[in-house]
Amino acid sequence: MPRPILATIHPAAVHHNLESARRAAPDARVWAVVKANAYGHGIERVFEGLRAADGFALLDLAEAERVRALGWRGPILLLEGVFEPRDLELCSRLGLWHAVHCDAQIDWLAAHKTQVPHRVFLKMNSGMNRLGFTPERYRSAWARLNALPQVDEISCMTHFSDADGPRGIAHQVQAFQAATQDLPGERCIANSAALLRHGGDAQVRLDWVRAGIVLYGSAPDHPERRAADWDLQPTMTLASRIIGVQQLQAGDTVGYGSRFTAQGPLGIGIVACGYADGYPRHCDTGTPVLVNGVRTRTIGRVSMDMLAVDLTPVPGAGLGAEVTLWGRAANGAVLPIDEVAQAGGTIGYELMCALAPRVPVVVQD
Ligand SMILES: Cc1ncc(COP(=O)(O)O)c(C=O)c1O
Repeated sequence: MPRPILATIHPAAVHHNLESARRAAPDARVWAVVKANAYGHGIERVFEGLRAADGFALLDLAEAERVRALGWRGPILLLEGVFEPRDLELCSRLGLWHAVHCDAQIDWLAAHKTQVPHRVFLKMNSGMNRLGFTPERYRSAWARLNALPQVDEISCMTHFSDADGPRGIAHQVQAFQAATQDLPGERCIANSAALLRHGGDAQVRLDWVRAGIVLYGSAPDHPERRAADWDLQPTMTLASRIIGVQQLQAGDTVGYGSRFTAQGPLGIGIVACGYADGYPRHCDTGTPVLVNGVRTRTIGRVSMDMLAVDLTPVPGAGLGAEVTLWGRAANGAVLPIDEVAQAGGTIGYELMCALAPRVPVVVQD
């Protein structure tokens, strides 16, 4: 028998979350962001839940081929554009739209031989300082692109650094508007946090929104808001079972480094899940976990293949008891991935993407 650990992907929840994203910006088209293999879920596993999207946005050309192989004929956008000139051949062949964020990408397009001109999204660096042309250089890049026979329509895009936090997006929206106001073409600036928090603002939702983490049931602005506040459902459950039980006495310690010391008699369960499964090692004593759908806490340090849980709230739980590390338990109780991520000093995005290859995955609504 294999180890009892199992990840379950819920496409119906992905669909539900897409609907929640649409409600936040009803008149915008929605890019379903499926980069990083759909944030660790598997593109093929979530595809059914995302059929109602208007397009798929990703980074990797191999992932774009996988989306086309699923029969998707609509728009696909390469968020970082092409990485070398020959990638443009695949864009022509598969009809991929692509971001253009630097001069080299314009040079490559100018030298590209194609029968069909490309749809491009010209990226502005409006303050994130990652990719894109500064507002001062944006219009000359636009003019250069516009003069190329290889280019069809040019859309304008930028990306926010602080849509989930107190600094907000106003300064970047203002920079974007000032540099693009009289340019033709569609616009796309909002990620999940901007969509949920500012989707009511027509200057933010614009023609397209890029919905990423919202599709996967994690609140982009946790802990200020919780997934349930945004009507989001978990799309990934990581579950395992108890494979050992220990009865501790006062003074007994648990796990590597003896990080936990029992104050009195305590029953603990040993769970078949560790950091080699993608569970964060930084989750120390007190991280929430469900045993038989009842909320309890982890105890001590996470090891490679095991972790310990406090059985006090579920004294009947023994060998084989269901443990939900995040997601939905059999009794319907939900443990948001964001709470586990917070306990580990990280974000839900990282936990989803870090699910280890050794964990078997099934699809179940
Ligand atoms: C350019 C771009 N757009 C959209 C997204 C989606 O962001 P989120 O998952 O926060 O919605 C990302 C993700 O990092 C991105 O890099």
